[in-house]
Amino acid sequence: MTQDELKQAVARAAIDYIVDGEIIGVGTGSTANFFIDELGKVKHRIRGAVASSEATAARLRSHGIAVLDLNDVQDMPVYIDGADEITRTGAMIKGGGAALTREKIVASVARRFVCIADGSKLVDMLGQFPLPVEVIPMAHAVVGRKLAALGGKPVLRIRDGQPLVTDNGGYIIDVHGLQIADPVALEDEINNIVGVITNGLFARHGASVCLLGRQDGVETLSFG
Ligand code: A5P
Repeated sequence: MTQDELKQAVARAAIDYIVDGEIIGVGTGSTANFFIDELGKVKHRIRGAVASSEATAARLRSHGIAVLDLNDVQDMPVYIDGADEITRTGAMIKGGGAALTREKIVASVARRFVCIADGSKLVDMLGQFPLPVEVIPMAHAVVGRKLAALGGKPVLRIRDGQPLVTDNGGYIIDVHGLQIADPVALEDEINNIVGVITNGLFARHGASVCLLGRQDGVETLSFG
């Protein structure tokens, strides 16, 4: 199976986690896109969705799925999203698609986070994938220096010759070369740097379940 077929398999398996008649939180990225396409086939089963990015909102709408404002939502049984890396304890790096802040906000409302990923995303230690940190644009240099002091190599994410601007108007710094032995501590430490909007460590509130696409089928990892 190709990587896309593995992503499609976990996206299909994630349909089992939607709760009938409820609102679902939907992530961003290529795996989440496969999930949205599957969700479109069973859209009559849900009340609507909360999107973690403008791109996800547009794709949900293209399937005729109602996109709700998070401010109008009090209860969300499940949030479904991909990851750039995930450990066997459910800690993740996310933000390869620059949507980390809205992803973390929507996930914080959900009772369960169902991670969908191809098997290549499972790691023993986080950090091989550069850690995305969303920052206020005027602070990117000072935050970059503080991230370098933590032992990483910060690189401002560039698109078409300009700093990439997120849905929130922020910039993304990708921190290379980290070996993240204590993801909860690093998540807190980076969030305490003035000028940081969010970092892509999802450790304090990690995944509840991970559906991992393997050549011989979908493996389910449950955390706590
Ligand atoms: C988006 O900002 C990310 O957090 C994605 O969830 C993550 O990058 C996984 O993306 P893919 O499903 O495209 O690998």
